[in-house]
Amino acid sequence: MISLRGVRKTYASPAGPIEAVAGVSVDIAEGEFVSILGPSGCGKSTLLMMLAGLENITAGSITIAGQPMVGPRRDAGLVFQDATLLPWLSALDNVLFPIKMMRLPREKYVARAEELLHSVGLGDFMEKRPRELSGGMRQRVALCRSLVHTPSIMLMDEPFSALDAITRDEMALVLLDLWARHRKTGIFITHSIREAVLLSDRVLVMTKRPAVVVADVKIPFARPRDESVQDSPEFTAIVARLRGMIEHSIKVAA
Ligand SMILES: Nc1ncnc2c1ncn2[C@@H]1O[C@H](COP(=O)(O)OP(=O)(O)OP(=O)(O)O)[C@@H](O)[C@H]1O
Ligand SMILES: [Mg+2]
Repeated sequence: MISLRGVRKTYASPAGPIEAVAGVSVDIAEGEFVSILGPSGCGKSTLLMMLAGLENITAGSITIAGQPMVGPRRDAGLVFQDATLLPWLSALDNVLFPIKMMRLPREKYVARAEELLHSVGLGDFMEKRPRELSGGMRQRVALCRSLVHTPSIMLMDEPFSALDAITRDEMALVLLDLWARHRKTGIFITHSIREAVLLSDRVLVMTKRPAVVVADVKIPFARPRDESVQDSPEFTAIVARLRGMIEHSIKVAA
């Protein structure tokens, strides 16, 4: 579904070029959920923006469903660390905002938007403005917004990082449930190893800038997945193995 070949990104800066991504080659299958872990500033967001078509690629290529990347993609849903909701719109209208931007007929999408909000527990909050919602609720709205136009790919850049620990754990379960219902191809950036293991089919580990992928670990737990997998010794073992890989990749690069 998604194929990256020798993808590089160099930013120009007054102090000279900054190589953010140094050559990433990865294949991601349709319906696969892949998390990316790596140290801060290693180029994860840059990679995601290139996948969304919002940042150009310096060298190498990205093809999605056989099509080379040329510009912003409509078939991708994006979720960022900040919910970026429009304060003057209700939760429902925020979810429907991409439909408006794409000039699609609103009436065809209202039922879907409502169903999405129900499924994340916001059935009673559809008419609320963002300021009347908690941080976790706002991020749920952002998740619904990313899915409203039935994208085939979901790109998520640390969507739960700004939340408190308890809300964050709750949101991982909301996403696990959304995934079981909507099954997209997903790329998820996080700094939480546990979150990555709970949610993913595969976890990629990136090195310090300029980034390359140093590990590609399959997560064996069956789907639909239950939160109880987190209590298994196998889960703990995979988390420990990934932590070791991340520590090693930081040392090697230092
Ligand atoms: N628009 C830009 N212009 C110049 N340099 C940039 C730009 N965007 C990012 N960079 C640089 O590229 C590198 C990678 O940044 P990026 O945001 O992709 O890292 P990241 O892995 O997402 O980090 P974090 O985990 O902190 O979010 C950094 O050194 C950053 O300073
Ligand atoms: Mg980032």
